[in-house]
Amino acid sequence: MKKMLKIINTPALGEFLAPAHPSEEMLDALRLRRSTPVELLEEPGPDAETLSSILTIGARVPDHRRVTPFRFIVFEGDARARFGEVIRKAYVQNEPEASENRIACEVNRFMRAPVVVAVISAVDKSHRTPEWEQVLTSGAVCQNLLLAASANGFAAQWITEWYAFDTHVLAGLGLAGHERVAGFIYIGTARENPKERGRPDLDAITTYF
Ligand SMILES: Cc1cc2nc3c(=O)[nH]c(=O)nc-3n(C[C@H](O)[C@H](O)[C@H](O)COP(=O)(O)O)c2cc1C
Repeated sequence: MKKMLKIINTPALGEFLAPAHPSEEMLDALRLRRSTPVELLEEPGPDAETLSSILTIGARVPDHRRVTPFRFIVFEGDARARFGEVIRKAYVQNEPEASENRIACEVNRFMRAPVVVAVISAVDKSHRTPEWEQVLTSGAVCQNLLLAASANGFAAQWITEWYAFDTHVLAGLGLAGHERVAGFIYIGTARENPKERGRPDLDAITTYF
């Protein structure tokens, strides 16, 4: 099994960390964060060290009682085409009348970005941390991956699409019965900048108790 590189700035366990401090750069990144639609992604993707840093940040999420109810599956290079064959089998089973063009489109899903990270939600139902909280942790992982990719200069999108829910595909990914796909994080370089998108009206979603 391929081992991930360790990132350098790992604090020792129990070490005091820097206190919260204002950072205009970080605020701008958060204020203007935006996914880049997968159709706009291209090479290059992060190298091994950068990907390791992105995954490390992805895994640094609020996690009640440290259950670690998630894991990663990384797809890069030929692994993306191998996953395409998993998709082909499932798709043809589901849609026996599908055209060759349509099948080819499905098979090439992961070829749309240089790197795809599957975030697998692995809830421990026997744990006293509620299942809901464990599921939310996986969502936080996905969001952290997007932010980490962006801060490393890469564009990314969180996608599920049908194959995140297909039992044949999940078996092909080697998921256990209790595991689900929280998201496929497609990471690459933006061919074109994304456009601003509508955002919630804060007054409509906020009340003061
Ligand atoms: C759990 C989850 C699944 C998603 N799945 C898809 C998807 O399958 N296809 C898609 O186009 N966008 C999907 N999205 C939405 C995009 O990731 C993205 O949030 C959206 O394009 C809005 O862009 P923004 O992140 O810049 O606000 C999903 C989002 C979430 C949270």
